[in-house]
Amino acid sequence: MSHPHPVESLMQEHRVIERVLNAMERMLSRDAAGPFPAEFFEKALDFFRTYADRCHHFKEEECLFPAMGRGGFPADAGPVGMMRYEHEIGRAHLSGIRERLPAAAAGDRDAIEMIHQQAFGYIQLLRGHIQKEDHVLFQMALHALSAAEFDALRAAFADESNPRINQALHARYEALAADLEKESLPEAIH
Ligand SMILES: [Fe+2]
Ligand SMILES: [Fe+2]
Repeated sequence: MSHPHPVESLMQEHRVIERVLNAMERMLSRDAAGPFPAEFFEKALDFFRTYADRCHHFKEEECLFPAMGRGGFPADAGPVGMMRYEHEIGRAHLSGIRERLPAAAAGDRDAIEMIHQQAFGYIQLLRGHIQKEDHVLFQMALHALSAAEFDALRAAFADESNPRINQALHARYEALAADLEKESLPEAIH
């Protein structure tokens, strides 16, 4: 099976992540006085923690960024350092949502309000982050990295023995993204 260029495959994952960010935003703009959609947020959290963080950010932090490091971009400063830092802020938002989910599911208005704040923060952060990667960081990588580095990345991304990134995981979470999108659309709301 042929795999897309590593930058192309990271960009495709961005499109899937954006679909779930949009779905979460639609759920957040629903009537705040209605029951809190705890099940939706649990599934969205699973998507962001597994697909966006463990799978996609793994490919960036463990594969692309080190390759960029070898190409002269420092790991802890400049554009790569900034991307790593934003991944950390994203993780803090996800923890902020996770720790309040049980109280929110029980109807605690403060917990629901905090989840709204954390989720909006996460949506804004990730949208900007994705734009920076697509338009700036990945473009730098395309200019700076050798064909041999991209071949190595392509092989790493195609490693089916890696449970963080294999095709089965991708298929499962892309199906979840489609479900979450469907659930968030007005016709699914009763
Ligand atoms: Fe990233
Ligand atoms: Fe990314």
